[in-house]
Amino acid sequence: MYPNVTIIEHPLVQHKLTLMRREQTSTAKFRQLLREISMLLAYEITRDLPLRKELIKTPLSTMEAPILASEKKMVIVSIMRAGQGILDGILELIPSARVGHIGLYRDPRTFIPIEYYFKLPDDIEEREVLVVDPMIATGNTAVAAIQRLKQTNPFSVKFLCLIASPEGIKHFHSYHPDVPLYTAAIDDHLDEHGYIIPGLGDAGDRLFGTK
Ligand code: URA
Repeated sequence: MYPNVTIIEHPLVQHKLTLMRREQTSTAKFRQLLREISMLLAYEITRDLPLRKELIKTPLSTMEAPILASEKKMVIVSIMRAGQGILDGILELIPSARVGHIGLYRDPRTFIPIEYYFKLPDDIEEREVLVVDPMIATGNTAVAAIQRLKQTNPFSVKFLCLIASPEGIKHFHSYHPDVPLYTAAIDDHLDEHGYIIPGLGDAGDRLFGTK
């Protein structure tokens, strides 16, 4: 239905997302769930990572064993500040990945993203980039982040979120049809404040306990 969008429907992902959506879920629990769900999402997204063989010695023998070919070539780019929760989970799985940050906030009146921070590792032309942000609402932030990132000419780019709106996906795809988008859910619609309905509220506020 949506080109270049993959919905990750693993039962554990869906279960944890439901717990995160619940209004009564505490900040500590929300944080823990976001870390756990991010590991599960990363597991799915990294299925096609290339492997190479390395000669290793076990206590009993030697063998040519498979190992990631490019662990250090991966860059996780967190869109601040809510992307931090996904980043933390993924780094538990892929600890050698490099990390970039893009600071964008939404003007609450126009919903237009404004950049306040941008830092990426070197050699971005050789790196596979995974951009993370829990929510694609209007899609403005995601579109702006990818636009900015493309100026640096990365080897490849994927985008990972938890919940996307139909409006956000269409907007994203109209600007970046070449960028695969992974999400755990596509919700119903956006409200007049640009929030996803039913959604989970403001992901940054829920992650950091702010209001
Ligand atoms: N950002 C969020 O954190 N939640 C929404 O519903 C929309 C944008």
